[in-house]
Amino acid sequence: MNDTIALLHRHRSVRHYTDAPVLPEHIEAAVLAGQAASTSSAVQAYSVLQVNDPAVREAIVPLTGGQTKVANSGAFFIICGDVRRHRLACEMANKAYEARLEAFLIAATDASFFAQNMVVAFESLGYGICYIGGLRNQLREVDKLLNLPEGTYPLYGLCVGVPAEAPIARPRLPIASVLFQDSFPDDDTLKKQMSAYNEDYAKYMVARGAPARGWTDAIVKGASAPRRAYLADYYATKGADLS
Ligand SMILES: Cc1cc2nc3c(=O)[nH]c(=O)nc-3n(C[C@H](O)[C@H](O)[C@H](O)COP(=O)(O)O)c2cc1C
Repeated sequence: MNDTIALLHRHRSVRHYTDAPVLPEHIEAAVLAGQAASTSSAVQAYSVLQVNDPAVREAIVPLTGGQTKVANSGAFFIICGDVRRHRLACEMANKAYEARLEAFLIAATDASFFAQNMVVAFESLGYGICYIGGLRNQLREVDKLLNLPEGTYPLYGLCVGVPAEAPIARPRLPIASVLFQDSFPDDDTLKKQMSAYNEDYAKYMVARGAPARGWTDAIVKGASAPRRAYLADYYATKGADLS
């Protein structure tokens, strides 16, 4: 264990913040830390939009399922995969932009390494963060509000602020469920581990004042019906070819 690993282990999503601002120099330091992350062949297929206008932040709240922290956090960002510069590079070279699913995946992964480095930097400075996947509930409306250009793929939001709560840690799967040596375990082994994890998870839910639901209950709820099925069509309107 060292200080960096200890910081990573202290992570919890923070959903309530004080009124204290996120200092501009801290934002700059976090974004530079984001940019220091590995990026596929240095394509740097990401951008981050800081949304400052309080009215716009209020307008995003209902588009995320009513997540008031979007308006109430010290700072709110939208993390985007961004191939706009790549499109422009092709345009400058008089070539068509023909990139497909691979480019979208690279943009999504690059943007996430960038975002997570930002997050760790913010947490190292004492801020709390919460990613906002709820941003994908109604991306067309978010897009209209923010006038997002072609080649820009909004992925999720990010709230940052000085924590006004100290949440307990959400337990993770046992390491044996995620670290495999040379081959993958059989289904029965995974199912046994998941059943054991359900018990830990239900205890955590009760400790945070929620019903005693196991992890697999939540997974089944999310995975047994199509979610946000409009996304492929939406990203196509931003120029993404997902084939
Ligand atoms: C991409 C992404 C999207 C998320 N979206 C939301 C969200 O919309 N609202 C929210 O309250 N938490 C959101 N979270 C936070 C997760 O629920 C949280 O990370 C997870 O339950 C683990 O808890 P922990 O971060 O406290 O360890 C999101 C996390 C990620 C990585």
